[in-house]
Amino acid sequence: MISFERKVALITGAGTGIGLATAAMMAAHGASVVLVDIDRAALGRAVEVIGVPADRVLSIPADVSDADACERALAVTAERFGGLDFLVHCAGIYPEATIANTTDDAWRRLMNINLDGTFFLCRAAQSRLREGGAVVLLASLAAHRGSYAHAAYAATKGAILSFSRSLALELAPRVRVNTVSPGIIETAMTRDLIGQKGEQLLASTPLGRYGTAEDIAGTIAFLCSPLAAFVTGETLQVNGGLYLS
Ligand SMILES: NC(=O)c1ccc[n+]([C@@H]2O[C@H](COP(=O)([O-])OP(=O)(O)OC[C@H]3O[C@@H](n4cnc5c(N)ncnc54)[C@H](O)[C@@H]3O)[C@@H](O)[C@H]2O)c1
Repeated sequence: MISFERKVALITGAGTGIGLATAAMMAAHGASVVLVDIDRAALGRAVEVIGVPADRVLSIPADVSDADACERALAVTAERFGGLDFLVHCAGIYPEATIANTTDDAWRRLMNINLDGTFFLCRAAQSRLREGGAVVLLASLAAHRGSYAHAAYAATKGAILSFSRSLALELAPRVRVNTVSPGIIETAMTRDLIGQKGEQLLASTPLGRYGTAEDIAGTIAFLCSPLAAFVTGETLQVNGGLYLS
């Protein structure tokens, strides 16, 4: 039901996890994909995993907390593919520390990567996104409920929710902007959390399993597709019902 033929998607954090699964799914449905990640080696592996012809994939090593690097990534994308239809911003970090143990530097680093990066990418992308395009940002269940020993992370994700609604107003009616708030998804990001609290989290999840990166990729693909043509400024929670418990 979904075709991204002749569409161009830039996906950050595409080296692994949700970003990689999203890039693979969108490429499988016909999109040309631009993979952005700070981890060069992961990008190389991602290009192999996705396995689309070379003329439909471009990888750009970049740190999303660097405004110039974001601007360059969008400029290179526009030059190579003539424009952009989808910006999917998955890059982010999830360090654990109580507020008492969060240093000024740790706080700033989280703001730089998770929040400034979102602003830099969206600012660089907004004029290059084509009519009918879409932006999907990644928030988190932590933005809605709070998260023990992740206050700084939760603050960045809460800010992303409000940012995305404002961006949706600015880019309408040309481009839609939505956010996905995942629950516990099995990726490198949650390895420690699942190791420490896995049983308890599973017991609190009505659907009885962790999410997969593909569960989130499917939601992102839906939000980019014409099936979501009247959806903007929204947040989709994808957590197997964990939010209810
Ligand atoms: N996994 C979950 O349970 C979960 C839950 C809620 C929200 N999220 C959000 O989903 C998004 C993707 O998470 P994931 O589970 O795939 O994480 P992941 O750790 O598997 O992947 C994150 C990717 O971002 C890249 N990255 C980190 N810092 C970067 C930077 N400064 N510049 C460019 N790339 C950078 C990493 O190299 C990595 O490839 C994140 O925004 C995360 O906060 C994930």
